[in-house]
Amino acid sequence: MLHLAVLGAGLMAVILLSIDNIPGDLRNILRYVIWAVAVVFFVEYLLRLWTAPEASRFEDGTLAMARLRWAVSLPGLIGLLATVPVIMYLAGYRIVGADAASIFCVLWVMKLGLHAPALGTLARVVSNERAPIASVLILFFILLVIAATAAHLIERERQPEAFGSLPNALWWAVVTLTTTGYGDVVPLTAGGRMVGSVLMISGITVLAIMTGVLATGFAQEERRREYLRVWEQVARVPLFASLGVVTLSEIVGKLRTRYYPSRIVVVRRGDPGDSMFFISSGGVEVRLPSGGSVQLGEGAFFGEMALLDREPRSATVATTRPTTLLVLYASDFYEIASHIPALAEAVEIEAKRRRDENIERRPGGSKQ
Ligand code: CMP
Repeated sequence: MLHLAVLGAGLMAVILLSIDNIPGDLRNILRYVIWAVAVVFFVEYLLRLWTAPEASRFEDGTLAMARLRWAVSLPGLIGLLATVPVIMYLAGYRIVGADAASIFCVLWVMKLGLHAPALGTLARVVSNERAPIASVLILFFILLVIAATAAHLIERERQPEAFGSLPNALWWAVVTLTTTGYGDVVPLTAGGRMVGSVLMISGITVLAIMTGVLATGFAQEERRREYLRVWEQVARVPLFASLGVVTLSEIVGKLRTRYYPSRIVVVRRGDPGDSMFFISSGGVEVRLPSGGSVQLGEGAFFGEMALLDREPRSATVATTRPTTLLVLYASDFYEIASHIPALAEAVEIEAKRRRDENIERRPGGSKQ
């Protein structure tokens, strides 16, 4: 938070300083802020360099080696760029003009990237999808060159300035293909307008394909991460412990992790049941219709009765502490139950025991 606040103050000061008619007093204050931020980033860089060997990923090797490895990592290089103003000052350059300071904006704004939580995921998605992304970019380029050449041939006599050369025609093609349309260059002949129309429609199509590629890439990456997350959790549920790897991997692909804070109702009595839950960490309380309650802890499951009996939820279940649950949707449960009879049987035995217990607990209730 402090880092973000300092960064925000620095960027704001640089941006304000670039305004010409700012009063002299404020201008001085802004200069002080900029220098203070520059010094903070410089000290921060030295401290991070000093503490780099503490990071577990740099543990193997000498202190100097760990520091060097941090220094050439992306955060290290970005940190180094942010220290450039102070280094320049120490080297004897006096940066007082607003123009020089505006360069700091570029050096500092990159630090914001270190706060982006999904930047790693984005990089992985781009890397995984590099073939379709490259194809879309190539398609983009082909359209660009064909359209620019066609417009150049058709329009050059009517508008020699705008379409007389291929680079000029390419500018128009880029603006049109990206559907930006500044309107500074417009085809005037019928042929040129037809090329423009086709190009605009192609532009939308190409961008839509790119969006689709990235969106599915993100979804796949998220599914992969979820799969790994579930693998880690599944080991804590004894019901799954006896299953072979192949069977387990089939189940893992169908489970979803969900995190619940304390005192949250997970299923409510009388609601339709569409899923069952395995507790991978934390605990829940089953509030029975008879008034009593049962505590379930790590490794236990609930919500199975509604799926087996195809009836509404028989009890309300709420978390008693922060809890991680693995959710199995009804359709997946039925599918798995038909594949893995041992699992279905274990769930059914426990459901029967619970049903009997609930009957016994009812006021004046007895087993039938
Ligand atoms: P379901 O009826 O789908 O929703 C409420 C859940 O509470 C139920 O499935 C069982 O999983 C669980 N439950 C009901 N009675 C008991 C009990 N006596 N002991 C443990 N869990 C129970």
